[in-house]
Amino acid sequence: MANLIAYYSRKGENYFSGTIKSVAKGNTEIVAEAIQKKVGGDLFEIETEKNYPADYTECTVVAKEELRSKARPDLKKYLDDISAYDTIYIGYPCWWGLPPMAVFTFLEHYDFSGKKIITFTTHEGSGFGGSISQIQKSCPNSKVVKGIAIHGSDAKNCEKEVDRWIDRSIDR
Ligand SMILES: Cc1cc2nc3c(=O)[nH]c(=O)nc-3n(C[C@H](O)[C@H](O)[C@H](O)COP(=O)(O)O)c2cc1C
Repeated sequence: MANLIAYYSRKGENYFSGTIKSVAKGNTEIVAEAIQKKVGGDLFEIETEKNYPADYTECTVVAKEELRSKARPDLKKYLDDISAYDTIYIGYPCWWGLPPMAVFTFLEHYDFSGKKIITFTTHEGSGFGGSISQIQKSCPNSKVVKGIAIHGSDAKNCEKEVDRWIDRSIDR
C-alpha cells in the first residue's frame, strides 16, 4: 500500500487572520509534510508553469479569472507513473471556494480509477467549500473522501490535529 501526498501551495503574500504576511512556505505545504510524517509515502508539489503573483490581491484577481474560464494551467512537472499508489492525499488551499485550477490539471492528467483520494485543505473560513463534488467530477471512478480542513493560521501547529485525524480515520 503506497501513499502519494500531492499538494498545491502558494508562497508569497497571504492573509493570516486579517494581517498580510509574506511566507517562504505555504500553509498547505506544512500540512502535507505533517501528513507524510504520519502516514509515510511520497510528497509531490503541484507547481504551475507560470507563477501566480506574489501580491495577494493580484493573485485573487488571476485566480478568479481562471475559475471563471475553467482554466487548466500547465504544470511544471508530472509524475511518470502513479500505478504503485493506491491512496492519493490531495491538498490545496481554498481559492474562491474551490481548489486552484492547477489541482484539476493534475487530477485530470491521470487515471485514478479504483484509487482512494483523500482531500485536505487550508482556508480562511470556507473549509472545503465546493471542492469535494468538483474533485469527484474530475475523478469519477475514484472514492473521494473529505479529509481534514485546517485554518491557514493554524497550519504551523497542525501536527497533533493531523495525527488525531489519521488515527481516527484508519481503515476508512
Ligand atoms: C486567490 C486566493 C483566493 C482565496 N479564496 C479563499 C476563499 O474563498 N475562502 C477561504 O476561506 N480562503 C480563501 N483564501 C485563503 C487561502 O485559502 C488560505 O490562506 C490558505 O491557507 C492558503 O494556503 P497556501 O499557503 O497553501 O497557499 C484565498 C487565498 C487566495 C490567495
